[in-house]
Amino acid sequence: IKKIGVLTSGGDSPGMNAAIRSVVRTCAYHNLECIGIYRGYQGMIEGDFKEMGPRSVNNIVNKGGTILKSARSKDFMTPEGRKKAHDHLVKAGVEALVVIGGDGTFTGAEVFNKDYGFPVMGIPGTIDNDIFGTSHTLGYDTALNTVVDVIDKIRDTASSHNRLFFVEVMGRDAGHIALNAGIGAGAEEILIPEEDLGLERLLDSLKKSKASGKSSSIVVIAEGDKIGKNVFELKDYVETHMPEYDVRVSVLGHMQRGGAPSCFDRVLASRLGVKAVESILEGKSNYMVGILGDKITLTPLEQAIKGHSEIDRELLRVSDIMTT
Ligand code: F6P
Repeated sequence: IKKIGVLTSGGDSPGMNAAIRSVVRTCAYHNLECIGIYRGYQGMIEGDFKEMGPRSVNNIVNKGGTILKSARSKDFMTPEGRKKAHDHLVKAGVEALVVIGGDGTFTGAEVFNKDYGFPVMGIPGTIDNDIFGTSHTLGYDTALNTVVDVIDKIRDTASSHNRLFFVEVMGRDAGHIALNAGIGAGAEEILIPEEDLGLERLLDSLKKSKASGKSSSIVVIAEGDKIGKNVFELKDYVETHMPEYDVRVSVLGHMQRGGAPSCFDRVLASRLGVKAVESILEGKSNYMVGILGDKITLTPLEQAIKGHSEIDRELLRVSDIMTT
């Protein structure tokens, strides 16, 4: 292998730039050429490539987003789209790909590998942490810190005005951000898709906390929660049943995806980039590099995509005890 391509695809996440930097510099370290592919698979289809050397990734280890830009490409889902992408790679002499993204990105890489036997290696980059085979995806730790910071601020108003706040956080179908940031920020209740608390129990719990002397509360709700009401309907529901509470809603949105990556995400990105390139050099393909118990590991892409990482049940219990 003489030339490796790198791209970011799907939702951007803090740490993607640090991973690009690591891939580019590991290539240089091993005397490989590196090609940056813009806008994920869409840029691959359009041949939007740029040669990258160690100096083209200066001053990005600390930057959120992705300098290579990102996209969710519909064209890449078609055989015609993938054929165009393959033609561009062959023309540019690219012999293997490192793709940074979430399960959609890995699915694309897997299909491309099946079509053309093209060597691919995945680096998990998403704030949702919903990938099997890694305890942390890039951006997750930063997003947790962002959410905790913001809830700390919301708490000032909640406590000054004796209010109940519903704070909706991202995570798609997974409750990792909600559960961990909820515990970190001292939430009264945490609503996640993996566990159906139910409206009655939510009300009971809020009533109990009021009766125990708490005058304000923060409830963290994952955007994918299945309680059956969206966050604004929940506000109405609780206000109807607990008129003593002044309820507010805060939907945190895309602020959770931005900002400088945490030190944890920068170190992880650097480690994963090295492992991705060196695994390709060892002739491996169709794996995701990840971290399990501080060891950098390889998981077949197929498993990484299919098995969503599970919620830690112990955390649910800790959260329950903390609301006593
Ligand atoms: O996958 C990352 C994520 O931020 C999810 O948490 C969220 O559901 C989704 O992307 C939002 O996507 P978009 O930025 O396309 O609206």
